[in-house]
Amino acid sequence: MKTKRCLCVVGTRPEAIKMAPVILALKNEPWANVRVLATAQHRHMLDQVMSFFDIEPDIDLNIMRPNQALTTLTARLLLKLDDVLKTEKPDVVLAQGDTTTVMAVALACFYHRIPFGHVEAGLRTWNMQNPFPEEANRVIAGRLARWHFAPTENARQNLLREGVSDADIIVTGNTVIDALLMTASKELDIGIELDDAKRLILVTSHRRENFGEPFRNICRALNTLAERNSDIQILYPVHPNPNVKDVAHEMLGGSDNIILCGPLDYAPFIAAMKRAYLIISDSGGVQEEAPALSKPVLVLRDETERPEAVEMGVVKLVGPDYKRIIKETQLLLDDGVAYQTMARGVSPYGDGKGAGRIVSALREYFA
Ligand code: UD1
Ligand code: UDP
Repeated sequence: MKTKRCLCVVGTRPEAIKMAPVILALKNEPWANVRVLATAQHRHMLDQVMSFFDIEPDIDLNIMRPNQALTTLTARLLLKLDDVLKTEKPDVVLAQGDTTTVMAVALACFYHRIPFGHVEAGLRTWNMQNPFPEEANRVIAGRLARWHFAPTENARQNLLREGVSDADIIVTGNTVIDALLMTASKELDIGIELDDAKRLILVTSHRRENFGEPFRNICRALNTLAERNSDIQILYPVHPNPNVKDVAHEMLGGSDNIILCGPLDYAPFIAAMKRAYLIISDSGGVQEEAPALSKPVLVLRDETERPEAVEMGVVKLVGPDYKRIIKETQLLLDDGVAYQTMARGVSPYGDGKGAGRIVSALREYFA
């Protein structure tokens, strides 16, 4: 088979985690000339994941600026991607998810008439404002994609509903589980001293639609939970977005049983999830990983594009809502039966072979 130039693009932390298994699997294919493009929409959060998986970007756009705005980020990405596509002339471009990087890559590929494969295709809330701007990003990327690598049957159905041809959809499982299985079996260390006598609640939060008052409500709820429960410890690796970081430190910095730290590297974060009693988060990736680790997740959002685990009863939506966060967390702390129901270890998001299915589909196509 003739060699094909495969350009794999990563911009942010979750894209690197979910693309790493795909990049590594493609690199094992004799027909694939794999090139890795980091837009570096995230800087150090991206770099640490890439180095953990031992992947060196061939091209680095170094896009990130402090507190970057969506319009300028998109415009700068498009200009730089234009140059890359002209020089690289890939036969296929792959990118994952719903960030601004992915939307810009899909559009740039469309303009250059280069086939684009969308990894983690078909997630929808059907509400353009929530999550913002991710729902729009993935709708645009999906509209322009040649291949839709859908993680679940539900995602496939969403794409069919939008008129995507069934032949262009491949249900693969989510590659986040590939990455998790590659990592979770290793000797892992959180790297932070915790009180063994206390139950650990792990928190992450970064969604743009929660900036402002909703995020302040989340912080108020964490403070109240910490005050009411002397037998818990809350570990919160704070996202570096200044809209999150500044408020989190201002509102939570004074509590004895809340530990604030910077973003954890991927392996220590997996260790923290394994150690946690429960997880409170608005992260997409965490909603997918935690059920596989038998950890209940309370999601700080009113809607999710990942309904599968909610339907199974192992993830619950609590919104950025002060009362609901406290009520549902307290229930899981106090009621063993309610806790066990959510800690069943059922995972609807994949079997760890997602990357292999993506690579097989491309191999068959090019053959
Ligand atoms: C982005 C994605 C979001 C994804 C999230 C994963 C968009 C619009 N948003 O959100 O979909 O869920 O990443 O975490 O694509 N920063 C640093 N260092 C880093 C990374 C970020 O300092 O390594 C700070 C910078 O000030 C940067 C800001 O965070 O400007 C925001 O980064 P950006 O990628 O625009 O948005 P996120 O909120 O990280
Ligand atoms: N993660 C990490 N360190 C942290 C928090 C999260 O490595 O401090 C990992 C987590 O395991 C998951 C991914 O980052 O795989 C989720 O990224 P994020 O929440 O930033 O983005 P989302 O998934 O919401 O797009």
